[in-house]
Amino acid sequence: MTQAGNKVALVTGAARGIGRALAVGFSEAGYDVAISDLKSQIDGLQETQAAIERNGRAAYLQTMDVSDKKDVQSAVKRVLSEAKHIDVLINNAGILRPSTLDVLSEEDFDATMNINVKGLLFCCQAVLPSMQARRAGSIINIASIAGRGGIPTQGHYAASKASVITLTRVLSQEVGTFGIRVNAICPGVIVTEMGRKVLGTEEQQRHWMSLAALSRLGDPQDLIGPALFLSSEQSAYVTGQALNVCGGTSFD
Ligand SMILES: NC(=O)c1ccc[n+]([C@@H]2O[C@H](COP(=O)([O-])OP(=O)(O)OC[C@H]3O[C@@H](n4cnc5c(N)ncnc54)[C@H](O)[C@@H]3O)[C@@H](O)[C@H]2O)c1
Repeated sequence: MTQAGNKVALVTGAARGIGRALAVGFSEAGYDVAISDLKSQIDGLQETQAAIERNGRAAYLQTMDVSDKKDVQSAVKRVLSEAKHIDVLINNAGILRPSTLDVLSEEDFDATMNINVKGLLFCCQAVLPSMQARRAGSIINIASIAGRGGIPTQGHYAASKASVITLTRVLSQEVGTFGIRVNAICPGVIVTEMGRKVLGTEEQQRHWMSLAALSRLGDPQDLIGPALFLSSEQSAYVTGQALNVCGGTSFD
């Protein structure tokens, strides 16, 4: 399947999980892909890079910490000098540190907001000037169904993802006249390293499955089709929206 032409997607948090699935899935669809993650995740990033190259596409690898504005600015600059343009930005990097709110540490609150919200904003700010100059682009922010209503032990995470949905709505209104679309995807429970933090016991797994209309947990691959749709001309009139990809767990 090739639908991309000469397009480049930048995926943050691409060393594993949903980010890797999206990066490789986009390369299968004909995109060249710029991949980034923390320096400590270089081995995983290189595995993602090899999978993209096996699909015959270019993989531009950059390490960056999304919560470090300078790091983000210089990594995006390097991607732009190599790849020349970024057509799609997928803000996927994120953390979940479960804790009830009564004992939530200031450190975990700050880290969650710094990475999930501020980091996402820094990536948008770094990529937007080049998209504005070309008067085209699609930004996809990975939020969560937790951001719709909240889930016990995920109050701070849910608040960060609600912020992602709000930033998505406002940014779409600010950059729409440049031909740039901004949408969010709200995954349900997806089986990744992060997902396993929520799943824990077999009983919890059965519980989450029973909450989904499709009676199953999500796989990282389940995010590829929706993200390709939001990146493509097929969704040319869709912006500022948050699409649940959760097997029918949330209906908000
Ligand atoms: N797995 C789920 O059930 C689920 C559900 C809803 C939303 N999400 C969201 O999907 C996204 C991906 O989650 P996942 O399940 O693949 O998680 P994951 O933990 O498997 O992967 C997250 C990736 O982000 C990277 N990352 C973390 N902090 C970073 C930073 N400061 N700078 C750069 N990279 C950083 C990690 O190194 C890792 O490679 C996250 O935004 C997450 O909140 C996941």
